[in-house]
Amino acid sequence: MRGTHCLAALAAAFSSATAQYQGFNYGAFFTDNSPKMQSDFEAKFKTAQNLEGAPGKGFTSARLYTTLQWGTASDIISAIPAAIPAAITTNTTLLLGIWCSAGHAIVSHELTALRSAITTYGSNFTDLVGGISVGSEDLYRSSPTGIANHENTGANTTALVTYIARARDAVKDTALSQVPIGHVDTWSEWADPKNRALVDAVDFVGMDAYSYWQSMVPNGVDRSKALFDDALNRTRMAVGGKGDRGRGNKPVWVTETGFPVSGKTSNEAVPGVEGARRFWREVGCGLFGGEVNVWWYTLRDAGKRTPEPSFGIVGEELGTRPLFDISCPGVGGDEEDGEGCDPE
Ligand SMILES: *[C@@H]1O[C@H](CO)[C@@H](O)[C@H](O)[C@H]1NC(C)=O
Ligand SMILES: *[C@@H]1O[C@H](CO)[C@@H](O)[C@H](O)[C@H]1NC(C)=O
Ligand SMILES: *[C@@H]1O[C@H](CO)[C@@H](O)[C@H](O)[C@H]1NC(C)=O
Ligand SMILES: *[C@@H]1O[C@H](CO)[C@@H](O)[C@H](O)[C@H]1NC(C)=O
Repeated sequence: MRGTHCLAALAAAFSSATAQYQGFNYGAFFTDNSPKMQSDFEAKFKTAQNLEGAPGKGFTSARLYTTLQWGTASDIISAIPAAIPAAITTNTTLLLGIWCSAGHAIVSHELTALRSAITTYGSNFTDLVGGISVGSEDLYRSSPTGIANHENTGANTTALVTYIARARDAVKDTALSQVPIGHVDTWSEWADPKNRALVDAVDFVGMDAYSYWQSMVPNGVDRSKALFDDALNRTRMAVGGKGDRGRGNKPVWVTETGFPVSGKTSNEAVPGVEGARRFWREVGCGLFGGEVNVWWYTLRDAGKRTPEPSFGIVGEELGTRPLFDISCPGVGGDEEDGEGCDPE
């Protein structure tokens, strides 16, 4: 069987359709609002790369929400976030984020910090950048649901299209001029025809989808796979990813998904390690090693205090043994690929 396994692995390795990025989301601060430092990011990035049983290519990419160092005084407009040097020392690829829900002036600071990082670190940094997301769930935040859930201000489609143009302008004469620029939002916002101008403006569509939060429909973990597939399908139909008939043929990247390991019940979704394992098995294992870039939510919660709900797959202590078995049968990964392709 060795030979068969080997051929399959080779075919996967050379398939141009194989996703480039697999990783987690990383916030800029701890639950007590203190900033994460370079050593904090390095510890997390290394842990992610060394997770026991990791499927596919392993977790070597980081999605960030902001390109400003958290907690820097507002007059320091070029403070490069500690995640960037940490990504360089650990060889972690990046989906950068420009925070857009705090108004025009903060977007300017974000873009100044981005240019400053390019100048400071050169190709050591730019070679790692797989994309730039201009905004994160800003449409959701400014939607009636977001307002009802007391989210922050958000930004509307018109504002986001302007910010995307400014981001393109900020990198146009740099090594990042060819990097895809997109936006991350909930699947329901992408599927909403009123946001079409945004679809036209982006190079990629970052989709966030959590069955846990879909409390208006039956959302027990047994329904999670169907709800996720429906969210991805609706997004693709709206934006035309993966050759569908939709608008613009924009690739869809899964920028956030996951299931809480603890927390309050949300309609029929009951948080727990068993539910999180099942969600990983059914949703995650369908994605890892496949064609779609994925940044899972998440490796570990913000830390110092367990949030409610909590989505971290390694629990409170940062260690390489997850709370549940994260291997994916048939997908390969450390254990399966490590053997079997030896020409001996
Ligand atoms: C970084 O990782 C990539 C694969 O993701 C690899 O091709 C490259 O050689 C690595 N670079 C270093 C300096 O380890
Ligand atoms: C890039 O990395 C190399 C190898 O670590 C280092 O020698 C060089 O100084 C770095 N360049 C910059 C601009 O940081
Ligand atoms: C979008 O937001 C901007 C401010 O960011 C505001 O001036 C504009 O009126 C809003 N447009 C719509 C259609 O709500
Ligand atoms: C995707 O959505 C379209 C339009 O809503 C629907 O016709 C189709 O059956 C869906 N496909 C899957 C696989 O769910």
